[in-house]
Amino acid sequence: MNKQTTDNILAQDAHLIQSFANLDALKQQGARTAIVAANGAYVTDSDGNQMIDGIGGLWCVNVGHGRREIIDAITKQLETLDYYSTFYNFTHPPAAELSAKLASLAPGNLNRVYFANSGSVANDTSVRMLHHYNNRLGRPNKKKILSRVGAYHGSTHLAMAMTTPAYSDGWDTAAEGLVHHLRCPNAYREAGDMTQAEFLDALADDMLGAIHDIGAENIAAFIAEPIMGAGGVIVAPDGYHAKMRQITADHDIKYIADEVVTAFGRLGHMFASEDVFGMVPDIINTAKGLTSGYQPLSATIISDEIYEVISEPGAMFLHGMTYSGHPAAAAAALANIDILERDKIPQKVQVTGKVFENALRGLADLDIVGEVRGSHFMMGIEFVRNKDTKETYSDEADVGLKIAREAQKRGLIARPLGNILILSPTLIMDEAMIGDIETILRDSISAVTATLPARGKP
Ligand SMILES: Cc1ncc(COP(=O)(O)O)c(C=O)c1O
Repeated sequence: MNKQTTDNILAQDAHLIQSFANLDALKQQGARTAIVAANGAYVTDSDGNQMIDGIGGLWCVNVGHGRREIIDAITKQLETLDYYSTFYNFTHPPAAELSAKLASLAPGNLNRVYFANSGSVANDTSVRMLHHYNNRLGRPNKKKILSRVGAYHGSTHLAMAMTTPAYSDGWDTAAEGLVHHLRCPNAYREAGDMTQAEFLDALADDMLGAIHDIGAENIAAFIAEPIMGAGGVIVAPDGYHAKMRQITADHDIKYIADEVVTAFGRLGHMFASEDVFGMVPDIINTAKGLTSGYQPLSATIISDEIYEVISEPGAMFLHGMTYSGHPAAAAAALANIDILERDKIPQKVQVTGKVFENALRGLADLDIVGEVRGSHFMMGIEFVRNKDTKETYSDEADVGLKIAREAQKRGLIARPLGNILILSPTLIMDEAMIGDIETILRDSISAVTATLPARGKP
């Protein structure tokens, strides 16, 4: 693609509002990168540069780009039935088949599926359902939600209210007062001198304290990502989810697992809740890897018990999305799941994901790498000014962004988040690609380190 084309794209882009972007900077400089094509683990920009897609689109292109089977499934579906709704008493084959497939894959008695088009709406849907569930049970006050500092659950008003407050600085959330944020389970920043076990006890005490103060009779649910993603890839101490599951069950509080990122192979299993963290929630919300991003689709998968209450005689399900279970999206998900199963991608991730994890952990010897954390193909690298004190760089230093730019020049897309760099590539990485990522990151971090003020200097 030639320069003229790049200029055209960027001129038109002045009308596009990017997500989570510094709009003023975009006004001044315009967007930097136009991605025009993708194949396998790589993407190509409008100047013809090929780069490893180190963030899997946005933690979503699990089976890799350009899969013919998914493209064909979508096309065939559109030729047969382009659209019909799942309102009232209508259904259609792809939505029906996908709901049955998800029920068979999800743990425990999570057997009923509501489709929407984004993780945000999946999370909203689960809360609306639980509010209605409690109304039907004659508990109209049991509505509050426990979430956590550091969480990311989406950008609709309700999902953003459940997200960590830092993400809505200067913005309003309509659900003010509905959500209580528990402590962040980030051991690196929060545990101090505590052992893992002591930190876990402290987090459990925080939840018990909140339940005591708010009253279990006022709390509908606890929502948690198995590993926090957009909060900086934060892995809670061992046993955390099982313990929180126990506490919520003891207090008749529903557990919503936000598996928007962690499902469909990223951590080596179709769903992480039971297979990785040893607990079965009441609801799983998922999106992203469900279609590997080929179509927008999310699923809210609820327990038989919740379903029985919201479907009892006299109940009406007053919730609907025009594109709920869209035929093309459902067809994409079915083809995507076929690939995951046929190629045993989650099982392979159990090996390659560990290779990736270890390769990145090896970067901890670099001067400004404070912590490398995460699991399998969900990793974060936190940069610090001083490893001993964990002193951070100022926001203005833009360390993550600078390193991401260096990486991009060298052929890798990584995602900056303040002083953190996030890596969540496609799940088809082989050892050679993993080696390339490691080298690029090492070189990029070293190049930026050389430009930063020496430790102790302003
Ligand atoms: C854990 C988690 N939940 C929810 C969402 C929101 O999903 P969407 O952007 O599809 O609305 C995201 C998006 O990154 C996410 O990471």
